Amino acid sequence: MEKNIAVIKGDGIGPEIVNEALKVLNAISRKYNHTFHYREILMGGASIDAYGVPLTDEAIQVAQNSDAVLLGSIGGDTNTSPWYQLEPALRPEAGLLKIRKELNLFANLRPAYLYDELKGACPLKEEITEGGFDMMIMRELTGGLYFGARETKEVNGQMVAHDNLIYSENEIRRIAIRGFDIAMKRRKKVTSVDKANVLDTSRLWRKVVNEVAKDYPSVEVEHMLVDNCAMQLVKNPRQFDVILTENMFGDILSDEASMVTGSIGMLSSASLRDDKLGMYEPSHGSAPDIAGKNIANPIATILSAAMMLRYSFDMDQEAEAIERAIEKVLKDGYRTIDIMSDGQTKVSCSQMGDLIVERL
Ligand code: NAD
Ligand code: IPM
Ligand code: MN
Repeated sequence: MEKNIAVIKGDGIGPEIVNEALKVLNAISRKYNHTFHYREILMGGASIDAYGVPLTDEAIQVAQNSDAVLLGSIGGDTNTSPWYQLEPALRPEAGLLKIRKELNLFANLRPAYLYDELKGACPLKEEITEGGFDMMIMRELTGGLYFGARETKEVNGQMVAHDNLIYSENEIRRIAIRGFDIAMKRRKKVTSVDKANVLDTSRLWRKVVNEVAKDYPSVEVEHMLVDNCAMQLVKNPRQFDVILTENMFGDILSDEASMVTGSIGMLSSASLRDDKLGMYEPSHGSAPDIAGKNIANPIATILSAAMMLRYSFDMDQEAEAIERAIEKVLKDGYRTIDIMSDGQTKVSCSQMGDLIVERL
């Protein structure tokens, strides 16, 4: 097959981890006889430096006209980078939010899976990790606090800021349907996470999720408050199959879930809409603290590329080949620094990419 992939390397460790994912995609194209055309576009700090804005209309057009988008990560150190002296709409993150909104990528899938081999890197006690765990966080990605009107202004002699949290029934329904569809292919359990004891948006969320649930009688539904969920993820992560939640809660819970899998460097993601176009990126950021050192873990990005093959290109076999190769590398004892434990072999970012390619 022939596919066009828009590639956004981004900032910080972005170029390092994307290069490893491209190595793997090139190996797949050779082995399975596909042609991948890469079209590089800029976003985030790299785009600010080149064009003065975090995402140009031309870049959006290239993404729109591609079969999928592969993204590293954008942004800099929010305390020290000059990008954060700019007005909020011109900062790196504004580019990321813009591409998600413009492409209507409302469904963000973040799979948190504990590899047997990484149990030693997980900070939880052995009795908790023993049976492993495997959950899919379904995060709503184009609504909520991220996209409501916001303002900072002076009121009665002091500065006051507000951010609006808004959800419509339709926005909730479409992500809920995605969540239940995915649960049907998994262990048939949906945990919908909200703050319905306080927020109107959460009360509407719960009502709509219950309506959607009626169409999926074989799926077990449970509602959990977000503070409890944060605690349960550490106490007993195995109870979760699909976690269905709004934008901000999903952002926070997915970072937490990643750490119980051993490292944020393992958590991939797919941002999907109603047709085949999707954007694929690791859930972590640009890690300015380790950028340029060739020590970042590229696995989350490589797993995201595998999700691209599966969800956008229907290349299930190829996606599985990548996932098996990653398992083999871990089984053979190779670790980047973030997942390193006693008795394993420490490797760099680029070595990890090479080792995965060798095992394809
Ligand atoms: P971060 O995820 O970049 O880093 C948090 C910690 O995890 C750091 O110690 C970092 O070294 C480590 N880490 C992250 N990815 C790693 C990897 N692949 N291998 C090994 N270690 C890894 O979060 P942050 O420091 O809060 O944010 C840094 C910048 O990234 C900010 O500008 C933020 O806005 C941006 N960000 C971007 C995205 C994205 O592009 N999707 C996501 C999250 C944060
Ligand atoms: C993520 C990131 C982004 C988010 C930031 C960089 C805007 O943290 O993809 O998880 O909050 O969605
Ligand atoms: Mn995040």
